[in-house]
Amino acid sequence: MKHIIAPSILAADFANLQRDCEMINESEADWFHIDVMDGVFVPNISFGFPVLAAVKKYAKKPLDVHLMIINPEKYIDEFAKSGASIITVHYEACVHLHRTIQMIKAAGCKASVALNPHTPVNVLKDVLADLDMVLIMSVNPGFGGQQFIPQSFVKISELRQMANAVNPNLIIEVDGGVGLVNIESLIHAGANAFVAGNAVFAAPDPVEMIADLKKVTINTHQI
Ligand code: DX5
Ligand code: ZN
Repeated sequence: MKHIIAPSILAADFANLQRDCEMINESEADWFHIDVMDGVFVPNISFGFPVLAAVKKYAKKPLDVHLMIINPEKYIDEFAKSGASIITVHYEACVHLHRTIQMIKAAGCKASVALNPHTPVNVLKDVLADLDMVLIMSVNPGFGGQQFIPQSFVKISELRQMANAVNPNLIIEVDGGVGLVNIESLIHAGANAFVAGNAVFAAPDPVEMIADLKKVTINTHQI
């Protein structure tokens, strides 16, 4: 499967959201990545349902909704009704993670769990077979434009090995500090979906940057 590129709306120009959504529609991007922050789980507040509805109005590609909020189970149905295709909840925010995963699936969405940089991948062992995706946070969640944490490579490799045994179709998404400098090594480690905020929106030509990120393949000498 060709890897997935999901530009993060957090880095878009909110005063020109329609223009930026149309740019993503016209590009080779696969998904819209939507970062919802509550100011409690993370030290930042981004946006909620009204902005999601505005994106949904123009987006012609699946919405990959990343919930950086406490008690995400309270809002799963509303995010599903607002047009989310994939819903990611944080392991660190869910007391009854198994139940929350089932709620996401019952709402008709693909279920995904995110791990903060300090959370080891083996905590997902008993739910891995139920998941469509795992999101590896390669920065501490809360802000765009941060520096990639190299330990993420080890986590991705470990997770891919775990998934090969029980869920070979698992999508491994990497979020934070992803760009042309590290995407090839991340694919090599076993990831196959990439969030890109700054890399795309700070580029002189975002459509071209998305095409460049999409074009990357692993060199056979690395295998
Ligand atoms: C960080 C968010 C990311 C962010 C990535 O908390 O989850 O999705 O937008 O931005 P960049 O690609 O700029 O690191
Ligand atoms: Zn995100």
